[in-house]
Amino acid sequence: MRTAERSVATRTSRVLALAIVAAAASVATACHQSAKAAEPSATIAGADANRGAAAIERIGCGTCHMIPGIQYAEGLVGPPLEHWSRRTYIAGEVPNTPGMLVRWIETPQAIEPGTAMPNLGVTEQTARDIAAYLYTLH
Ligand code: HEC
Repeated sequence: MRTAERSVATRTSRVLALAIVAAAASVATACHQSAKAAEPSATIAGADANRGAAAIERIGCGTCHMIPGIQYAEGLVGPPLEHWSRRTYIAGEVPNTPGMLVRWIETPQAIEPGTAMPNLGVTEQTARDIAAYLYTLH
């Protein structure tokens, strides 16, 4: 009887150990996939990250945001945009996908009416270029 109990216990802990290993493996896979999805050239057709960086400077996103690699982009009105490719949400509202980011840059007020980020009259092509640049921030 005692032997049977022990073997059930052993089996249970083995199953648990396997479950933990499986969970760890799936977390590792998920991280790997999200890192891949952040490659700008693969996800935003026709966009140019260098053009995006120039547009960020011209428009002045840096008056409100800290943006690595952009001169004088040290604003504290909006959140810092460092590590953008690893962020899960945009403004805590919608998933951080290329399509949503382009829309956010064009018309943040359409995604979150009343947000402190104004619509800045950014065209779709420029928004795509800017999004490509933000996704280079790993
Ligand atoms: C007048 C200040 C202001 C300007 C200019 C501005 N933003 Fe914002 N931005 C904000 C604020 C404030 C938020 C936070 C909005 C919220 O959470 O509702 C924000 C949010 C964002 C977010 C989401 C940040 C996060 O942590 O989820 C991105 C991306 C972004 N802005 C990009 C840009 C880009 C690109 C430009 C230039 C085209 C720009 N912003 C110009 C104020 C500004």
